Amino acid sequence: MDQLQKDLAEKAQVSDEERRVDEGLEKQREGFLQKAEILKAKSKEAIDDKRPARPPFVALWHSGTKPGVGPDATPEEKQEGRHRRLRALNTKHRKVFSTSPRDPHGRVIGPDETAGTGKQAPLNGIEAWGDSIFDFHRVASVPAVEDYILYSTGGRRLAWTKKHGETFVEDQLAMRERELGPQEVHPWPVAEAFKDIDRRVKMFQPFKDQGRNPLDEIEFGLREPFAPIAAAPLLQERVPFRLLPKKLVVHDPSRLLRASYRNLAEEPKDWDAKPDLVSVYRLELSEEGKKKLKEEDNMLEKLRKEGNKALANFLESPTSENMPPDQGILFHTGEQEELGPSTPALFFVHGPTPIKQPIEEAHVYLSPHHLVGKGNHSYAFKVDWEVPRSMVVPDHLCDICVIEKGLTIVLKEDGPKGERKNPQWNQRLGEVVEGVVSTAIDCCGKEVLYKIQPRRLRTKKQYHGPLRVIHTGVEYQNPEDGPLCKHLVEGEQPPSLTASVSVVAKLSHPYDYHLPHEAKSYQAFPTHFFQHFTGSNQLRPLRDPFPIGAVVPQFYGYYVPEADNKPMIFDKKVPGSGVPGDVGEATWKATKLKYDYRSPIMLLEYCGRAIPDDVRELSIDDRRTCASLFLRMHNGGWVQGSPYTRNVLMQSGPIDTSPLSRIVNGMNERSDLRQTMFRLIDFGRSEEFGWKTGDRIEEEGKVMELFELPHHT
Ligand SMILES: Nc1ncnc2c1ncn2[C@@H]1O[C@H](COP(=O)(O)OP(=O)(O)OP(=O)(O)O)[C@@H](O)[C@H]1O
Ligand SMILES: [Mg+2]
Ligand SMILES: [Zn+2]
Repeated sequence: MDQLQKDLAEKAQVSDEERRVDEGLEKQREGFLQKAEILKAKSKEAIDDKRPARPPFVALWHSGTKPGVGPDATPEEKQEGRHRRLRALNTKHRKVFSTSPRDPHGRVIGPDETAGTGKQAPLNGIEAWGDSIFDFHRVASVPAVEDYILYSTGGRRLAWTKKHGETFVEDQLAMRERELGPQEVHPWPVAEAFKDIDRRVKMFQPFKDQGRNPLDEIEFGLREPFAPIAAAPLLQERVPFRLLPKKLVVHDPSRLLRASYRNLAEEPKDWDAKPDLVSVYRLELSEEGKKKLKEEDNMLEKLRKEGNKALANFLESPTSENMPPDQGILFHTGEQEELGPSTPALFFVHGPTPIKQPIEEAHVYLSPHHLVGKGNHSYAFKVDWEVPRSMVVPDHLCDICVIEKGLTIVLKEDGPKGERKNPQWNQRLGEVVEGVVSTAIDCCGKEVLYKIQPRRLRTKKQYHGPLRVIHTGVEYQNPEDGPLCKHLVEGEQPPSLTASVSVVAKLSHPYDYHLPHEAKSYQAFPTHFFQHFTGSNQLRPLRDPFPIGAVVPQFYGYYVPEADNKPMIFDKKVPGSGVPGDVGEATWKATKLKYDYRSPIMLLEYCGRAIPDDVRELSIDDRRTCASLFLRMHNGGWVQGSPYTRNVLMQSGPIDTSPLSRIVNGMNERSDLRQTMFRLIDFGRSEEFGWKTGDRIEEEGKVMELFELPHHT
């Protein structure tokens, strides 16, 4: 038995009670052990090894539940025992389990020496980042002294190791070099949900002639809010400040804007049962919000300039090596079929991705039957938010239009038999080489077989060299400018120019100051509080890594009643029959109905329900994730100010998957597979703090206590 196996056997004996190997991880474990053996072999040559190298060990940390099953249990009993442990709430599935070996003659790693040495600048200010749980490890700061342990990540260790020339873990760390750093994860696009909803709506109501005339206004309020047949999908994507609608028309038949109620349940269920009382609100941005809006505009302007520059550079000497991203399609004709020297391929230039224009108007529908929560200062309703569709659905580019137009131009220039073709296009100035994946579409008749190679599609044969550029003039299409082209009209033409999404409207008790304060907090938060990232972070005092979803809900604007605006009745001339898209012209009528108080409205992403009051109903990993949200706020310079279970929400994840797959995940009996996502809410008492002030320390203590996390977790 070599040393490694001995170590393993010893380890197994000592910790059999506590450490259980997960079946799913077994394979990876073997991989790691093999690596460990290679390392071991290397180290034998290099050093006189008295210190047992601790092999990386993939295990679940599991404590508190009774030992599984005895050695003489049947396979079924063992299986059941394993399942029980995997399901157990106190089984850690996310744990730093590996120990990175040190060169026994290596330097001492000082306490904060690995800080600032991460692989790339952290996107959220937290440097301890790893793309998988395997990337985190314990490392002895003093070589050969096993008990003085630092927690580190591959990236930091690599940087330190390089700096100090310690070659002991070269192999293991080499893979780090090739890895991507943290990436932003984007929520599953709501535009996807509309494809399905639109199909259903169109069965009842074909596309109304909206938008055919560019002077047409987008018509709001023509559909039935909360109609089950086309229930509004959750909006979870970030909306930049520059696209928050400036005016919000609030539809409120039950006068919920008063924000103090007795019997909500007695209100009629039918949307049309009461006159539709509307108020006009306007977006109120704080100084911080305005600043961010400006930054967004500047950033877009910068990107636009860069795009123009990339195109101009390309046009100066067009080759396959300097194609501008997203401004054209590389197109192989029959002449780029053969490997080897080739005549130039075609490049069809099309318009750039349009910059979305500010949104003037949106509508919101408040129903007494969609209350999702109440607090000491507020009510929160799920609302239908009707926005111009182009705000949440990207414009379309039709590849077929680009190619058809491009080929028409080529034919016209060259003549039907190519008799006018410029001789330079017949020179074999480029080369076709073998590529990766093949996705070729045939088109355009028998004589010349064209192979289309649209953007991002990889083909087997790749052309390298100079390109023949054709300006097609084809632009992105937006249904607001008229019907889509014949290739897109079938699948993409929407049933109306607006789209309803589901968000939360938070209303404030009369004259309470918390909501305006909270709105300011949202606008002052660093952007990374709203972003989801790949991989995991580590933050003291938590030792084990946690996932990096957004900390807070998306902020969709803070609205106040327009000065001197009187509520009016919104009258659809053709009353809705319950079918979405049921069309009629709307008129506004004066009314004697009024409000003593109309609450401001803050629109937020819906983030699920509150976590259980008894946090022990959550798994240990989930409890740590909840605590991590507060720690991340602290790390970003904020205290939340109200650390209670009712202010932590949960929903199933992950964020970039469809609602259906989240439901499926949510049914899993293993908490780690449910991939629950957590979010903090309620920033009515949040404050920015100076570094190392007491507030933060105090809240950290409360949080660790709230989630029953003793200081060694
Ligand atoms: N973004 C959201 N998604 C889902 N539910 C929400 C959301 N925001 C608020 N809620 C629900 O509304 C309740 C009240 O909201 P919130 O905690 O923000 O208000 P509050 O009046 O400031 O509360 P507190 O009484 O804790 O001071 C929450 O406990 C939650 O149930
Ligand atoms: Mg609250
Ligand atoms: Zn088209």
